[in-house]
Amino acid sequence: MTQDEMKLAVAQAAIEYIRPKLNDDSIVGVGTGSTANFFIDELAKIKHLFASAVASSDETAKRLEAHGIEVLDLNTAGQLDVYIDGADEFDPHLNLIKGGGAALTREKIVAAASREFVCIVDSSKQVDILGGFPLPIEVIPMSRSYVAREIVKLDGAPVYREGVVTDNGNEILDVHDLSIVNPKELERVLNNVVGVVTNGLFANRGADVVLMSTPDGVETFKR
Ligand code: A5P
Repeated sequence: MTQDEMKLAVAQAAIEYIRPKLNDDSIVGVGTGSTANFFIDELAKIKHLFASAVASSDETAKRLEAHGIEVLDLNTAGQLDVYIDGADEFDPHLNLIKGGGAALTREKIVAAASREFVCIVDSSKQVDILGGFPLPIEVIPMSRSYVAREIVKLDGAPVYREGVVTDNGNEILDVHDLSIVNPKELERVLNNVVGVVTNGLFANRGADVVLMSTPDGVETFKR
């Protein structure tokens, strides 16, 4: 089974997971990335079962609209029932690292505004301790060097993701060499560094459900 076949399988599993929860008024929160793209393409096949969507990035909004799915601003939509998105890593407590696609801030906002966060991954994303994947941090551009120095004090090795500007006009630092034994605490500490917009730890609001594609089928993990 290729990785794309695994992504498609978990996208289809997510459709089956959310289908019973949908009605004519439902607004679906949709994440960003290659796995989310498979989900969007599958979601389009059941677009008669829900009203509209909220997107976590401009890229996702374009893909949804190309399928004829109405995309609402989150301020108009209010609270969402469900948010579906991928991740770069997940641990046994369903804490996540996200932001490999630089969409972490809007992803964290839409996740926070949703009653249920369903994370869709393939088995390459499963880890015991987060941090093998460099932790993305979105920063206000003028604060980049300052934030980097503060991160060095926390024993991380920040690398500027050159050439990337987020949908919010900000920049990304990828922090290497972290072994994240207390993700909730590190998420809070990083949030307190002036100039940090969002860090890619989704721990204080982690996933409620992880659907993980393996060559033998899709496994479900619940909080
Ligand atoms: C986007 O910023 C990320 O949070 C993605 O959700 C994450 O990088 C997973 O992407 P893939 O599904 O492409 O691996």
